Amino acid sequence: MSTLLSQGKIADIALRNRVVMPPMCMYQSDDTAHPKDFHKYHYTARALGGVGLIIVEATSIEARGRISNNDLGIWTDEQMLTHKELVAECHKFGAKMALQIAHAGRKSEAKETTPVAPSAIAFSAEAPYKQPEELTVEGIEEIKGLFIAAALRAQKAGYDIIELHAAHGYLLCEFLSPLTNQRDDLYGGSLENRCRIVLEIAKAIIDKIDIPLMVRISADEWMENGWNVEDTIYLAKELEKIGVAAMHISAGGNHEVVDRMPAFEPLYQCDYAQKIKAAVSIPVIAVGLITTPQQGEEILGNGVCDFVAYGRELLRSPNFVFHAAQTFDEKEHIEHSYLRAY
Ligand SMILES: Cc1cc2nc3c(=O)[nH]c(=O)nc-3n(C[C@H](O)[C@H](O)[C@H](O)COP(=O)(O)O)c2cc1C
Repeated sequence: MSTLLSQGKIADIALRNRVVMPPMCMYQSDDTAHPKDFHKYHYTARALGGVGLIIVEATSIEARGRISNNDLGIWTDEQMLTHKELVAECHKFGAKMALQIAHAGRKSEAKETTPVAPSAIAFSAEAPYKQPEELTVEGIEEIKGLFIAAALRAQKAGYDIIELHAAHGYLLCEFLSPLTNQRDDLYGGSLENRCRIVLEIAKAIIDKIDIPLMVRISADEWMENGWNVEDTIYLAKELEKIGVAAMHISAGGNHEVVDRMPAFEPLYQCDYAQKIKAAVSIPVIAVGLITTPQQGEEILGNGVCDFVAYGRELLRSPNFVFHAAQTFDEKEHIEHSYLRAY
């Protein structure tokens, strides 16, 4: 029996296997920020394809927090109701559903809004990036409230799990880095202060909702004197203490140009996941150029992670789990109607 296709749990949520679809923006919405037919069929295809956990793409907590004008949102009850339809469709086919709640911060390219950030430092001098406004402490309070409201709506929509997006240079990630956060108040300066906003939001969400919360982090921003894996270990331990259910370990995204670049080869982010897994006892999801069932099996066996995210591979192969079942010769994981293709 392969580990990749064996059941797993995130908190009390049982997943039919350890194949995770990580959040991937599809840029198929419009200014309503509602999930569209495209999203319904796109995610349902992966549910039918056998994915254990689908994490729906970065979904903004407010209009100015969208990466683009085609992102999803969950800042209104109407948006929540469309998410509810999407979740219900995917649930019919056995996938568990998570929603990544997000704020793009200084990386927002949304038109007609001014981006906000921990400090007034632009991501890039080039369009479509804009000069962000530094958030005041009242502004931070407002953002916290919006994250909590989004989490409550996600729960109402029927999601099984919520993922807080604190990776890839978006708002919460910007707070973590000493390079993009140059505040001198309670939310900047020391490592503890830079982690404050993520910890406060995570704690407030955990206090208010009944479903598990996981957090996605960039383990390293690839800059001299920047956020690194040791900082990630500190934050992961603090998040575990307050009740976060799982960590999703990615990297990069906070700078237009970086000092050191890893070779983008298969499993290139797994080393980070392994270090975090060694430091906490909650489940860890690894991601980044993992494309084959054998690679997933190998990293699960080597103690790198508890779950394996296949991003672009699931864009190419919605029936990836079918192929994994063939690879491991485990027919029982295949939807019976498809068995003739086995
Ligand atoms: C089209 C596309 C959209 C993405 N959108 C998001 C997103 O909404 N949130 C996020 O955290 N990561 C996003 N990512 C990153 C993926 O979740 C994943 O970490 C990355 O693609 C590396 O995994 P892979 O090599 O298996 O594709 C996106 C990646 C792609 C290719």
